[in-house]
Amino acid sequence: MRGKYLLLSAIAFVSGLRFSSAQIKYPYRNANLSIEKRITDLLSRMTLDEKVGQLNQLNSGPLTGPEAGNGKGPKEMLQQIRDGKVGSLLNVVGAVETGNIQKIAVTESRLGIPLLFALDVIHGYKTIFPIPIAESCSWDPDLAEKCASAAAKEASASGLHWTFAPMMDLTRDPRWGRVMEGAGEDPYLGGVFAAARVRGFQGNLDNNHLLACVKHFAGYGAAESGREYNTVDISRYNLWNMYLPPYKAAVDAGAATVMNSFNIVDGIPASANKYLNTEVLRKKWKFRGFMVSDWSSFSEMINHGFAENKIDAAEKAILSGSQMDMESGVFIQHLKTLISSKKVPQKLLDNAVRDILYYKFKLGLFDNPYKYHNENHEKSVQLSSEMHELSKQASCKSMVLLKNENGTLPLDKNIKNILVVGNLATNRSASLDFWSAKGDTNQVTTYLAGIKSKFAKSEISFSEGYNEKNRFSTETENDMLTKAQKADVVIAVIGISGKLAGEARSLADIAPASGQMEMLRKLHSSGKKVIVLVHAARPMILTDVLPMSSSILYCWIGGTEMGAALAEILAGDYNPSAKLTMSFPHAVGQIPVYYNSFNTGRPHVDGRDGPDDFWVSRYRDIPNAALFPFGFGLSYTSWEYSNLELSSHNMDKNGSITCTLYVKNKGPLDGEEIVQLYIRDVSASYVRPIKELKSFKKLYFKAGESKKVEFTITPSMLSFYDPEGNTLLESGSFTVFVGKNSKEVQEASFVLK
Ligand code: NOJ
Repeated sequence: MRGKYLLLSAIAFVSGLRFSSAQIKYPYRNANLSIEKRITDLLSRMTLDEKVGQLNQLNSGPLTGPEAGNGKGPKEMLQQIRDGKVGSLLNVVGAVETGNIQKIAVTESRLGIPLLFALDVIHGYKTIFPIPIAESCSWDPDLAEKCASAAAKEASASGLHWTFAPMMDLTRDPRWGRVMEGAGEDPYLGGVFAAARVRGFQGNLDNNHLLACVKHFAGYGAAESGREYNTVDISRYNLWNMYLPPYKAAVDAGAATVMNSFNIVDGIPASANKYLNTEVLRKKWKFRGFMVSDWSSFSEMINHGFAENKIDAAEKAILSGSQMDMESGVFIQHLKTLISSKKVPQKLLDNAVRDILYYKFKLGLFDNPYKYHNENHEKSVQLSSEMHELSKQASCKSMVLLKNENGTLPLDKNIKNILVVGNLATNRSASLDFWSAKGDTNQVTTYLAGIKSKFAKSEISFSEGYNEKNRFSTETENDMLTKAQKADVVIAVIGISGKLAGEARSLADIAPASGQMEMLRKLHSSGKKVIVLVHAARPMILTDVLPMSSSILYCWIGGTEMGAALAEILAGDYNPSAKLTMSFPHAVGQIPVYYNSFNTGRPHVDGRDGPDDFWVSRYRDIPNAALFPFGFGLSYTSWEYSNLELSSHNMDKNGSITCTLYVKNKGPLDGEEIVQLYIRDVSASYVRPIKELKSFKKLYFKAGESKKVEFTITPSMLSFYDPEGNTLLESGSFTVFVGKNSKEVQEASFVLK
């Protein structure tokens, strides 16, 4: 299968023809006319088959889902392109390869309509940036925008026009393998990152950028038990207030496309959910781009028990407002019949074709179809030194310091002997995740390589500890403990291979493997200081790791320069500033645990255990709160928050008040702090969360510096949605919380009149 697109491209190359002069004189080819006029002209010339063809997207490279679609070889696929039966291909890459296929579409099909080439460019194309959840821990949307833009630059140079990103599914369940692709558990922060990534990918839609795709619409992150593709059951109230805001932010940022999700919403698969696809997306949010299904999600409605057969699936999908069909082939097989028999209004098809053609014109593909296919440009932009540098910076800003007892970190640059332990310190094949596009694990600076190059004067030894299968043996134990004896500090890498991160990679057990824990126990009993690095694409259960470590640095999966970034942090050349965007559970049984929960009628305060603390909403074996809360992250310096004040204790519905406080860098090092503002609506017509992030500021402080920090509280921060998506702003008491994370806060209150 992997060679399929090469073969496709080779066949395409030998069969290329030229534009016919007849094609050139058509109005839709006239670049001086408006896009609207050109589309209208083109539509008037298209046959029903050609129109349906624009809604057909086929896989032409490695599979990223079950082989559901046309099941045909490259020759048949090229013939379909010649026949005008394909609108877009996914998974074919390379300036030359895509260019050869584009030539067929443009010169051999009757109307010469160019194809859109698409790929999952999630966090880099060749240069890989930190996984999106890691990047969200930077709380730096400008950084996310830059990384998305850099990824778009590399990918578009390889002939691509469209990425299936960003994913903004709100997630509260780290068992779900796709938490790595999002921005965590908060709707506001999720929206900020979604918009930034859309801006980064799309830019001004020139040939250094990509069309973005809002995915997966909607609620895909709420898969029950964190099991991939599983049922979703969210109330409309929760949907509007928690899950929809990030998609809306991306649509408002101008995202060109939206992808259906695999799940059901209110008992109806998203792919045929008229409420989502028409009422919310088109009518309420005024989305003007086009929709694409997820991989075979139209035909999967048969398995859901919602469609009788493929023709039924096609009818239900298009009637709901869905448009392009990724790989299930139900439109190409049945849409013509459905239109001819008037079961589906022709207008729906025409509108979908219009929406798709709009972007083909907008990208300039009718005027210069080959502008994405310059091999020299491809070579010059990919993996450049600027890309490597950006990847390193992003990785530095994404790693979260979770523990740092007695200032174990940063290490003394003149430290004599360091032992690095753990298979993941050197294992290249585990270094990147499934969604690393064309990233090459050989390009990755491993943790060990990063440490060796930064601490070049120190003696660095390595011991595998556990092996690739996470087994810890007596042989490795001896080697490890002998080396540990000589070491001034031990750096132990634990975690989960990148191969288990991403789609179809749900895990029921997200604690470190027993072999990794055995390794930690032995190291801990050796009496040495152990710095634990966690390489993982999801929050893990670190409850048993905490007592066995002096420091814990959550490295996530940091991309091409992860080892170099790690070394900057270990040496104190970068002072960690990242903070968690997802709560870390005490135990798997505590999932879902998230900070913006409701209070319940019988709330409990962790730590209290008097007679009144029995018949309350609590666990009897672990605390209610997360092990590490949302917004948590340490620095090598320390912070003091003081004097929280509101400009008034009353606010009008059309007014605003300001909230000020002082933040001081009390430590000896310069650093950045993320100051977080949360609000609670104390009593409302629908219960509101105990705290909701409404704003934040990431600020740089010199050592010893103090700053007055000011937030403006506006009515939009106090409003919420009813279950129908109407905005409510209700009078009453509100509490404002400001702090370094969602737990350690100061508070003040006011009344909205
Ligand atoms: C299925 C995934 O759910 C989606 O996110 C991805 O874009 C498509 N496959 C294409 O690879």
